[in-house]
Amino acid sequence: MALLDIAGVSVRFGNVPALRGVSLSVDAGEAVAVLGANGAGKTTLLRAIMGRVPVESGTLTLDGEAIGGMRTSGLVDRGLSLCPEGRQLFPAMSVEDNLLLGANRAVIRVARARLATIYERFPWLRERRSVLAGAFSGGEQQIVAIGRALMAAPRLLLLDEPSSGLSPVAIGRVRELLGQVRETGTAILLVEQNVQLAAAMTGRGYVLNRGTIAASGDTAALVESEALADAYLGGAA
Ligand SMILES: Nc1ncnc2c1ncn2[C@@H]1O[C@H](COP(=O)(O)OP(=O)(O)O)[C@@H](O)[C@H]1O
Ligand SMILES: [Mg+2]
Repeated sequence: MALLDIAGVSVRFGNVPALRGVSLSVDAGEAVAVLGANGAGKTTLLRAIMGRVPVESGTLTLDGEAIGGMRTSGLVDRGLSLCPEGRQLFPAMSVEDNLLLGANRAVIRVARARLATIYERFPWLRERRSVLAGAFSGGEQQIVAIGRALMAAPRLLLLDEPSSGLSPVAIGRVRELLGQVRETGTAILLVEQNVQLAAAMTGRGYVLNRGTIAASGDTAALVESEALADAYLGGAA
């Protein structure tokens, strides 16, 4: 049984169909990519999984349990965590306070234990725990944002374009960090426009084009596929 299974999911914003019958799955411990151009529906897909936008039709299950219509905090309790597009840190708060916000409803003792684990694994964060998040570069903020998402102790980490706006060096650091996350057995659903990063991080993926899945398969093959070229050129209507 897949960890996350979504079938025939549609989302509409007024007259705009943002997702049309999207089906995909992620197994426990697996890393899966969703590729697609601006406006394809990638963020909407992640927000639908996290219960942040109403789903018009279709089913979403986590470990076989129907999660459609559940509240976000309940989904986080069940093992989902989103690292959002644009990082969304609180710039006037310290790294540590930003991280603690990711602990959802965990009691403070549990949150502190998770913080200790994250600091042990990523000493870079511990060294900067008192620095205000707003003082960092985009790449550094992305690392804090991933750390915050890990504070929920997810089984499946959803990442919305973590490489967006970053320099090649910063993307390399994000890639290294995600590699470490993978080693802990956490599954990843990676939304990216950077196909090289997606191919390096994931074995399997989907191409999303105008709200529908246009292709799926090995990420390395998708990167070379006509479906992806069409998606970026705005073709394949
Ligand atoms: N809150 C919203 N209200 C209205 N339209 C939206 C909203 N969010 C997204 N959309 C529309 O849904 C489509 C998909 O957007 P989005 O999921 O952000 O795409 P992507 O993340 O792939 O760039 C776009 O046409 C976008 O304008
Ligand atoms: Mg987006």
